Amino acid sequence: MDPILAPFPATRLRRNRRSPALRALVRETTLSAGDLIWPVFIREGEGVEEPVPSMPGVNRLSLDRLLARAEEAAALGIPAICLFPYTAPELRTEGCEEAWNPENLTNRAIRALKRELPDLAVMTDIALDPYNANGHDGLVRDGVILNDESVAALVRMALAQAEAGADILGPSDMMDGRVGAIRAALEGAGHKEVAILSYAAKYASAFYGPFRDAVGAGSRLVGDKKTYQMDPANSDEALRLVARDLSEGADMVMVKPGMPYLDICRRVKDAFGVPTFAYQVSGEYAMLTAAFGHGWLDRDRVVMESLTAFRRAGCDGILTYFAVEVARALKG
Ligand code: PBG
Repeated sequence: MDPILAPFPATRLRRNRRSPALRALVRETTLSAGDLIWPVFIREGEGVEEPVPSMPGVNRLSLDRLLARAEEAAALGIPAICLFPYTAPELRTEGCEEAWNPENLTNRAIRALKRELPDLAVMTDIALDPYNANGHDGLVRDGVILNDESVAALVRMALAQAEAGADILGPSDMMDGRVGAIRAALEGAGHKEVAILSYAAKYASAFYGPFRDAVGAGSRLVGDKKTYQMDPANSDEALRLVARDLSEGADMVMVKPGMPYLDICRRVKDAFGVPTFAYQVSGEYAMLTAAFGHGWLDRDRVVMESLTAFRRAGCDGILTYFAVEVARALKG
C-alpha cells in the first residue's frame, strides 16, 4: 500500500471530491483559452461561409469573414489561429507552384491578419497537399513521393509564408530533413524569430478524412500517405521523430491525431519536456459532432472533457475546431 495513505477510515478519498470548492482546490490540470490554437479553412470570395458537410459547424471562410471570426477568437483570448486553404482546382498542379506564390490565398490571409490583428499569432501548414494535383504532401514522380525534391519545395513555401508575416510554421508533411532545411533557410533570410511547430509524430490516420474534404484534397489523393506518415502501431518511433525534429531546430512539437494518441503525448512530454501540442483532428470533431447531433452526448461537457484530457496527458496546447466555443464557455 502507498505509505502516505492511512488506512480507511482515516483516509476517505471522497472528502476531496465533496464539493465544487474542494474539487477546485485539488484539481491537477487546467484548461484555458490560452491553450488553444484554432484551425480555420479559408477560400476565395467575399462574404462566404461555406459549410464543410463532414464537419457540421465548420465553414470555409473568405478572407473578410476570416478577419471577423479571428477578431472574435482573439477577443476570447485564443492566442493563435492556424490557416488551411481550399485551393481553386485550376491551381492544383503536379509541380505545386502555387504553394510558394507570395500572393496565394494563405499568404494574403497572413498579411491581412497581421495588419488587422497583430497580436494574434498566425500559424500555417507546410505541406503540398492543398496545391497538389494528386493530393500528396510531397512531390510525386512515377508514383513515388520524393523526399529531397519535396523538401526543396517546402522550403520555398516556408519562406513565402515567413515573408508574409507568419509567426509559427507547421511542417505537416513528414518528409525527412525538412525542419533543418526550413530552419536554415529562415536564418539565412533573416527570419530568425519565426517559430517552427513541427508535426513530429504524425500518423497515417484515417481520422483525417473530413479535413481532406474541407481542403478538397481527399477526392484527388492517389494511393495513401503510409510511406511518409507514421504507422499507427508505433510508439518508440514517435520519440525518435520528436528527437530528430528538435535537433533540427523545431521550437515546439505536435502529436497528431489527438485522442487516440494520448499515450504518445504523455511519452513525448515525459521524455523531452518541450512545448508539446496535440491536434484534435477533423475525424475526432466529426465523430463527436455526429453524436451531439443525435443527442447521444452532451456537447458542452464532452468538448470540455476531451480537451482537459489532452492537458492531463501532458499537452501544453491543443489544436481544435472547438476552440471558439470552448473559449466562449470558459469565459462565461
Ligand atoms: C496536411 C494536413 C492534414 C491535416 C493537417 N495538415 C491532412 C493529411 O495529412 O492528410 C489533418 C488535420 C485534420 O484532420 O483535422 N498535410
